[in-house]
Amino acid sequence: MAKRVLVSGGAGYIGSHVTVELIAAGYDVVVADNMSNCDMTCFEGVKKITGRDDIPFELTDCCDAAAVDRLFTDYQIDAVIHFAAYKAVGESVAEPIMYYRNNLVSFLNILESAKNHGGCNVLFSSSATVYGEAEDLPVTEQTPRLPATSPYGNTKQICEDILRDVVKATAINDGTDGRGPVKGIALRYFNPIGAHPSALIGELPRGVPNNLVPFITQTAIGKRECLNIFGNDYPTEDGTCLRDYIDIVDLAKAHVAAVSRMIDGKMKEGYEIFNIGTGRPVSVYELVTTFEKVNGVKLAYRFAPRRPGDVVAIWADTSLANEELGWKATRSVEDTLASAWAWEKHLAEK
Ligand code: UD1
Repeated sequence: MAKRVLVSGGAGYIGSHVTVELIAAGYDVVVADNMSNCDMTCFEGVKKITGRDDIPFELTDCCDAAAVDRLFTDYQIDAVIHFAAYKAVGESVAEPIMYYRNNLVSFLNILESAKNHGGCNVLFSSSATVYGEAEDLPVTEQTPRLPATSPYGNTKQICEDILRDVVKATAINDGTDGRGPVKGIALRYFNPIGAHPSALIGELPRGVPNNLVPFITQTAIGKRECLNIFGNDYPTEDGTCLRDYIDIVDLAKAHVAAVSRMIDGKMKEGYEIFNIGTGRPVSVYELVTTFEKVNGVKLAYRFAPRRPGDVVAIWADTSLANEELGWKATRSVEDTLASAWAWEKHLAEK
């Protein structure tokens, strides 16, 4: 029988791409989402891409412990991928209580049910934000984490630690009273961008986008007047920040590799961490001009003051993920930016 993966936040941007790749790899998927930050567009897209109209969808708020536990009662779950979280850095600074409550309580509920239903494999979606302004680049998984500069970033660090501690504490569980061991992987994403090649799923930011690529595509389509490039006086070649932009489909495939590693019993430790990026730094300016070139569009942009909280440069050493997960980013930044533009045009046609 196919192994089943619960994807919390599975109707969102990353969750929908991961659901597609899990199904392509032969897994059964249960999507749970409270739809607080998305509509059904991506879930409908997932059904079209996979040709599967029968993917179970559960309208669940993971902050509701009883509701989460019901999922584990109703389905035999072999692994959980936990995406259900708030993710806007600026909003988290303004609303720390909301961020801590939502992001921590939902994850605790998942872990508690995972433990109490015989144990489970848990994949946590972490972020390169945990490295802060790292001194040595690229960063490896051993690069020390720095104090978070936002409540959002702090929830990523705290959830990593919670997962590590739960794995350690539950390692001795032998199934007595249903309690089993929890195994965990944290994937630290760099900057996920782009959309599925079908243009049926992609990023759907609510309101004014915070992230660069949705702002670029919305400017190109005329929804926004002008892109602000935050800072051109950084100590980099062209003065703009450097990031490691990882294609969303490549990122989704890393999840399949990590889930298989857990389910197939290939983990070397009960808790493991992997950087998920390309290993290649790209400047904001380079990304903007590449977008223009690849898509044949002229983008209105101007140089603006630095955005508070931004790090100058961050990119990944991906050798651990390459070796241990047998995974590597393959899609070019050109193809990824073409897919982001195709998705924006698809939305405009709807
Ligand atoms: C942020 C979060 C990260 C999160 C990621 C994906 C921090 C510090 N960063 O990364 O944790 O995982 O989003 O949601 O917590 N830029 C512009 N103009 C814009 C928007 C962005 O110039 O309108 C620049 C930024 O200054 C930055 C780069 O583009 O240099 C990327 O920004 P963004 O897409 O927001 O991602 P990060 O801040 O790197």
